[in-house]
Amino acid sequence: MLSDKLPDQGLTIFSHMTQLAQQTGAINLSQGFPDFAPPAALLEAAARHLRDGNNQYAPMAGIEPLRQQVALKIAQRYQRTLDHDTELTIVPGATEAIFCAIQTLVHPGDEVILLDPSYDSYAPSVQLAGGRCVHVPLQQPGFTIDWQRLTDAFTVRTRMLIINSPHNPSGALFTRDDLDQLATLLRGKNVWLLSDEVYEHLVYDGRQHASVLAHDELYQRALVISSFGKTYHVTGWKTGYVAAPPTLTAALRKVHQYVSFCGVTPIQHALAEFMASHPQHLEELPGFYQARRDFFCRLLGSSKFHFTPTPGTYFQLADYSAIRADLDDVAMVEWLAHEAGVAAIPISVFYRDPPPGLRLVRFCFAKQESTLQQAAERLCAL
Ligand SMILES: Cc1ncc(COP(=O)(O)O)c(C=O)c1O
Repeated sequence: MLSDKLPDQGLTIFSHMTQLAQQTGAINLSQGFPDFAPPAALLEAAARHLRDGNNQYAPMAGIEPLRQQVALKIAQRYQRTLDHDTELTIVPGATEAIFCAIQTLVHPGDEVILLDPSYDSYAPSVQLAGGRCVHVPLQQPGFTIDWQRLTDAFTVRTRMLIINSPHNPSGALFTRDDLDQLATLLRGKNVWLLSDEVYEHLVYDGRQHASVLAHDELYQRALVISSFGKTYHVTGWKTGYVAAPPTLTAALRKVHQYVSFCGVTPIQHALAEFMASHPQHLEELPGFYQARRDFFCRLLGSSKFHFTPTPGTYFQLADYSAIRADLDDVAMVEWLAHEAGVAAIPISVFYRDPPPGLRLVRFCFAKQESTLQQAAERLCAL
């Protein structure tokens, strides 16, 4: 008899919706990945490193040139001088980093606070570590922290708080003020902070990303995770990094070395080379995605969906109550795929207890203009 460690988990909604899009021929605005090519120089570098023989194990912590480039970026963006030997680890994807961070710090019986809606890999990772998730909903409108509820959620068993800004699925951003309040709340508590910042460079309208890396007090108890996949349009390369103080990094690496040991070698070389030769990519990225957001929102403006243009990430939430208020969001995305030919993601799957009457779906606008145009035409016809 198989005793399932994750009895409540099935196929993720992202895989399901992508499959449904393939079956129905719907335009796939569900799963978060670009349908356009990554930068040509990055592809060329990857191909060259494959051909030139960078095909064996990388160092467990990641190749030094890439850690150096990440340290440089963090110094320039967040004014934090990291030691790339003791504070940075390259990992095969942010998902692996999240899993390893949780296995490193969460012991059986520990509680981990998640702010719902939350990314789908957090809760199963906590469960596999023997921990218990305590879900605190973000409040509407704006998906902001309910400080009273968060304060009340802490117990003597709380070991970790997971935050995610820019936030998937809402696109909401924490402010520097939020981080200061968080620092006050965590002061004196034996609680680690996992800060998922994979969309750190996807922030619009001149706003700044408030990174835990720029916050001295919070950083001392934090693991900050990012993903090259989102930043360089290469989600399939599954490469990310973790920045954390030396003691935390050393503990994390003990787990990481037995989960994957290291990230993919030629990919690390290609990223290091591209970061060094194309620093402007990071400067241009917000404008690049903001133009796509504006394009999609302008077209969707003629539809019956209600929305506020997202401040961050490549996701746009849209309220569909004026179209099919009778359907919950899971039924709505099935209906949208079949009737409109557009695949989206329901928001309720990011909650343990979805708020009643939630009528929001998530569209990914990391797509070519022609894809967005075609999808918007279909959505406007509803
Ligand atoms: C909030 C969040 N964290 C982590 C990840 C995983 O990133 P990676 O593909 O690098 O594992 C994603 C990917 O969608 C995400 O949205």
